[in-house]
Amino acid sequence: MTLYVERMGHLVAEHQMLLKDALLPNRIGIYCLLRIEFLIPWEAHLVRTIEWKDGLVVTLDQTKLPGEEVLIKLKNCGEVASAIREMRIRGAPLIGVAAAYGLALTAHHSKARYREELMDELEASADLLKKMRPTAVNLFWAVERVLKSARGSFAGVELLKRSVIEEAEKMADEDVETNRKIGEHGSKLVEDGDTFLTHCNAGRLATVDYGTALAVIQMAWKQGKRVKVIVDETRPLLQGARLTVYELIQDGIPVTLITDNMVGYVMSKGMVDKVIVGADRIVRDAVINKIGTYTVAVLASEHSIPFYVAAPLSTFDLTALSRDVAIEERSPEEVTHIQCHRIAPKDAWAFNPAFDITPLRYVGAIICEKGVIFPSEYGNSLESETLKRLGP
Ligand code: MRU
Repeated sequence: MTLYVERMGHLVAEHQMLLKDALLPNRIGIYCLLRIEFLIPWEAHLVRTIEWKDGLVVTLDQTKLPGEEVLIKLKNCGEVASAIREMRIRGAPLIGVAAAYGLALTAHHSKARYREELMDELEASADLLKKMRPTAVNLFWAVERVLKSARGSFAGVELLKRSVIEEAEKMADEDVETNRKIGEHGSKLVEDGDTFLTHCNAGRLATVDYGTALAVIQMAWKQGKRVKVIVDETRPLLQGARLTVYELIQDGIPVTLITDNMVGYVMSKGMVDKVIVGADRIVRDAVINKIGTYTVAVLASEHSIPFYVAAPLSTFDLTALSRDVAIEERSPEEVTHIQCHRIAPKDAWAFNPAFDITPLRYVGAIICEKGVIFPSEYGNSLESETLKRLGP
């Protein structure tokens, strides 16, 4: 891909090497027409998927990937909420941190003179954010965590504003560290020569950095294990084809793309050693993840292929059972169209649940930042006691 830097209306191509060189492995590079008026080199790449920069939240528009790598600069909580709803920002952990940053924007720009006024503004922003997507529990977890820390503080307006921003920054830092640990723990399940199949995108684009399922693969790769990855495209929005393949190519990890309906075939041909996916919510009896995960899990079971789930503790909701969780239904147009191109007859009716439910009996291990949990520990019901046994 070529980098074009727009500066004062001119395309400045000489920045190509400079910016390319500035990218570290495991970092998100922007090789695109950057829609920033006066661009200076440090702005041209993000070290993390989402960043707080001088009262703006900066991230990549994931709907445009991989064709265009466009940075979006979000100025207020409403813009963060819209970006989450439109899936410019997506992936459970990233949605959580973005929501925390949304509240930080509310605090940063607030003109409130009294603490109570600021709290009312934060509560209103929280209500808005929580309406954006119902299934990924990280959204609710993050909003509640920021509100709880704000409610518990008796600081005046200025200090409270600062503490909300600091809490969001802390959550972003924690997400990076959490995912690094997930990678470390999970890599113990990876053997040299393994071919993994993954579904949707549980890579760094779905988190602040590293990813969850892909952190495991990336860590194993860094340890010198020669892993390969098969990625299913993940209709309707193609997060597998667009985002996971893009990340793995950037990391230099061998990757093969298949369509969703090829999963059974590749498994039956012995082409898959292990499956690893992320999660949007882990409840007591199931893992809830991108639509199609359940199908992959059942096929893995049929072919005696281990099926692993990697997720941070912020994705666990052990007060709930799967029947309590709202499964997001999105626009039928995501099914009748592929990337804005109609594929079904006009007036076709379509059903578009965004997530499905995989009962724990199909799950061969859950990897979180505290370690790896096996079925011998959770059976058909995952309890918070099980997590406590993993230690601090
Ligand atoms: O609808 P999306 O793209 O937000 O769904 C994402 C997934 O289902 C991921 O697998 C999940 O959020 C885990 S991301 C680490």
